[in-house]
Amino acid sequence: MNSDSDLQIAGDILEVPHLLQAPREHPATVAEFVGLARSIAADRAQWEHLVRYDATTRWYHRLRTGPGYEVWLLSWVPGQGSGPHDHGRSSGVLTVLDGELTERTERGERVLGAGVQRVFAQGYAHEVVNDALEPAVSLHVYFPGLTDMPMHPASRLRPAGGSLVACAAPAPYGPADTVGA
Ligand SMILES: [Fe+2]
Repeated sequence: MNSDSDLQIAGDILEVPHLLQAPREHPATVAEFVGLARSIAADRAQWEHLVRYDATTRWYHRLRTGPGYEVWLLSWVPGQGSGPHDHGRSSGVLTVLDGELTERTERGERVLGAGVQRVFAQGYAHEVVNDALEPAVSLHVYFPGLTDMPMHPASRLRPAGGSLVACAAPAPYGPADTVGA
């Protein structure tokens, strides 16, 4: 059976609404977590009024929880950073909502502008810093919800003697992917 006959059998999906999946109330796949983050990013009324900037301590706010996931809103004034860490048992999606953040990993450093999303697996280690001159806001979906954020020695994610020192944290699913820009 070739793909042409498959198409003929399937017909027009819009004419057979019983074959369409009803939208789920809660995301359950990586693609759906990415989509959730994108929809929140696009709807500034959901989060803009909640953001606070605090120069003395890192500001964060739990925006939403659901079965098996949590959504956090974070702000970063210039110079603020997370320190090197991983996310324990959690995988996640990081989305920059406003401003610009710099992510450092064992592979190097990249600048994440507004709209960029990073997907990371359990055990992924990084450091996120606002190296820009303007405040930044980011959205973090963790699945399962973040229960542990082990900190790493700074030297593990920084160039040392001209080469990058590998981080000890396991990365069973490989490096994070940038899924949008
Ligand atoms: Fe992180």
